Amino acid sequence: MDQQLKLDYSNCLKEFVGNEGISTEEIEALKSKLQTTHSEVLNKKSAGQLGFMELPYKVDEAKKIRQFAVKNKNRYDDFIVIGIGGSALGNTALQQSLRHTYWNLLNRKSRKNWLRLFVPDNVDPTLLSDLLESVNLKRTLINIISKSGTTAECLANFFVIKDKLIKKVGRKKYPDHVIITTDKEKGYLRELVKSGESIANFVVPPNVGGRFSVLSPVGLVSAAWTGINIMKLLAGAQEMDKKCSSNDVQKNPALMYSALQYLLYWKGKKTSVMMPYSNSLYGIADWFRQLWAESLGKKTNRKNETVNVGPTPIKSLGATDQHSQVQLYIEGPYDKIITFLSVEKFRNTVKIPKIDKLDNPADKLDNPADKSHYLGGHSLNELLKSEEQATRLALTQQGRPNCSIILPEINESSIGQLIYMLELATAYAGELFDINAFDQPGVELGKQLTYALLGRPGYEDKKKELLDHFNSYDKNKKVI
Ligand code: PA5
Repeated sequence: MDQQLKLDYSNCLKEFVGNEGISTEEIEALKSKLQTTHSEVLNKKSAGQLGFMELPYKVDEAKKIRQFAVKNKNRYDDFIVIGIGGSALGNTALQQSLRHTYWNLLNRKSRKNWLRLFVPDNVDPTLLSDLLESVNLKRTLINIISKSGTTAECLANFFVIKDKLIKKVGRKKYPDHVIITTDKEKGYLRELVKSGESIANFVVPPNVGGRFSVLSPVGLVSAAWTGINIMKLLAGAQEMDKKCSSNDVQKNPALMYSALQYLLYWKGKKTSVMMPYSNSLYGIADWFRQLWAESLGKKTNRKNETVNVGPTPIKSLGATDQHSQVQLYIEGPYDKIITFLSVEKFRNTVKIPKIDKLDNPADKLDNPADKSHYLGGHSLNELLKSEEQATRLALTQQGRPNCSIILPEINESSIGQLIYMLELATAYAGELFDINAFDQPGVELGKQLTYALLGRPGYEDKKKELLDHFNSYDKNKKVI
């Protein structure tokens, strides 16, 4: 079987989807802009600005990460990732796609001694308390991930866990239960490492933004401790990098994906739905939602003009959301492009047993001579695939542009290819929309307001501003 991931974009074209689609001429007309886009991305890469494009080739570091996990895995049962946003979502995406669906319920032998994984990416007090009640901290390893090393959610959860750890294993032994993954030089977490607590640590490269960091130690460490073959993951990403080295949009799937999204955005498709027909890929859709939203949702363009641009990414799951969202996608406003994540061969095949029809008149109407239920003898695989094909066809017939990213199987190679393709498409889309895809001023603003509310030194003026706002709000609010 051909193990390469493919992009089928036929149903974005007018010829398949009618007037709501784009024409091959429109893609052709964008050709020179796409070539410039491709070379701009390569220029930025050469200038050392796009560290995510270097990650697939950091094989030596990945080997060290793997060796560290292999050597120590028998000392622990559970692995906790403390991080948020780009420092958490990739961990979950890898785990969901490449491990058993109920990995944490498997016994140690079935997990081949690899660790269970928990990613409590919030400061919900119940979330953390329940987790800490469920694990034995003496047998737990915790990776504190924050590129900045200062994010409030990450540090707060860390401080709570550190306190509990010290009570449980003692001050001297607590560093044995902690890994820190952060910037090479700055931030609270790096200072902690430098302060001589002998905590194992990894570096988030300065030129790799949080949401582009899943193939760095940010995502690779937890993947390695749960037995995922991170070398194959990187090899998959390398393969996609090579495939995307062409500036010909017909040969470069990341470039084509960004072009489709861009052209359709300006035709009013401001909502971009990613819909995997596989539960294993739902975490990837969640990860992509952040990548696309935080990278492309921007107030100003690179000329500092106000543009308030950005597609809204939505995640959806087939077939589950056929019974929740698809009615809207098929009959609601013409404002969406759908990306199916389609799997050719699942890890498992589940046959539906042959079953007799019930003795009821409705069942007998179709073919009285046939005594068996129509589902019997098929498989869940066939049913899911048929539902996917039916949804694709229904959308297409109703003039709803859609494309499919086809994975031959879900394995380290295809997931490496998929992640890299989507990251590169995001970088291309940033060029096309003429915005900086690598900053997040909106997120930073929210972070600063939180610091002010919690009384972080240096944020006194902001705090006053906020309190004034709350006072005036309290006086004027309308609550019923
Ligand atoms: O993609 C991003 O840059 C953000 O989502 C960050 O990952 C998130 O805000 C967490 O930041 P940090 O890793 O600095 O704690």
